[in-house]
Amino acid sequence: MTIVTGVTVRVPAKLNLQLAVGPPRADGYHDLVTVFHAVSLFDEVTAEPARRDAVTVSGEGADRVPAGRDNLALRAVAALRRAAAGPASAATGVHITIVKRIPVAAGLAGGSADAAAALVACNELWGGGLSQPQLLEVAARVGSDVGFALLGGTAVGRGRGERLTPALAPATQYHWVLAFADGQLSTPEVYAALDRLRARGERGDGQSPRAGARGERGDGQSPRAGGHRGVPPRGLAQPVLDAALMSALRSGEAAMVGRALSNDLQPAALSLFPALRKTLAAGLELGALGALVSGSGPTCVFLAASPDRALDLAVSLSGAGVCRSVARVAGPVPGAAVIPPPK
Ligand code: C5P
Repeated sequence: MTIVTGVTVRVPAKLNLQLAVGPPRADGYHDLVTVFHAVSLFDEVTAEPARRDAVTVSGEGADRVPAGRDNLALRAVAALRRAAAGPASAATGVHITIVKRIPVAAGLAGGSADAAAALVACNELWGGGLSQPQLLEVAARVGSDVGFALLGGTAVGRGRGERLTPALAPATQYHWVLAFADGQLSTPEVYAALDRLRARGERGDGQSPRAGARGERGDGQSPRAGGHRGVPPRGLAQPVLDAALMSALRSGEAAMVGRALSNDLQPAALSLFPALRKTLAAGLELGALGALVSGSGPTCVFLAASPDRALDLAVSLSGAGVCRSVARVAGPVPGAAVIPPPK
């Protein structure tokens, strides 16, 4: 019998290629339709047996990650222990070590990624033998984006984002530039700002909802700056999947995908963090095929036509002084996976 002493899992950040947000629900969440896309910016999470549950975090933004029971990875450990009641090893404590590269509170689901990685690592460590569908059930109880971090790839999320269907698309790799902001946004605050803007009948960009005759967006951006699509701000209909984005993904044409990016949270994120307008505009001026705020922000995401274009864009954006730092990533990539120990 092999005794497993520690398990390390690599887990990706996510972008939302579409994020359509419905009205607030009675439980405080919002029904979504979103197209998740996992990209090659990874955290590493190691689980080791310990006397009691604890977490150590290092790397990008580590000082802003809660170290106690509020840590999402520790909440995932507790949720898995309840679900995997069988294995005796689950009764012991576990030490979680997180090496962060995904910035904290940046709209990239870094906390959810760490939680997903902790589920995979502890399932392996305890020999829990939970299947992926069972892990997805546990993940949904921990947070809206945790399930997708298990799955990876490109997937449609519904409900709170936890009901997932993988998107059937050719194996195209897309080349993205991420512009990290000098600051953070709280996800609940961005959703609350969107509700306020909608209650006032605004889109969040100072324009009335009707601005934008002849197909113009009325937000001073080209149609490629993916602010708003799908849900009318006043109608508050249930959100719908964007057929144009799905057909762009099926075609594998980056230019089409760039034109179809959209995020209903973008006006709310811009209202709380106006400097992001400059970042988005700069990326488009520098030739990005599309630009949008990632999730609840404040990271801005740009699609490039090729790895070389992404490099040019990353260099120019960092020279333009419109963000704290940049990263080039590719997607889609697989979800949380165990890194085999060195032989
Ligand atoms: O599920 P998670 O803990 O990641 O969500 C963080 C917060 O984001 C929620 O407390 C809620 O305020 C907001 N949210 C929402 N609707 C969703 C997902 C998240 O309002 N579908």
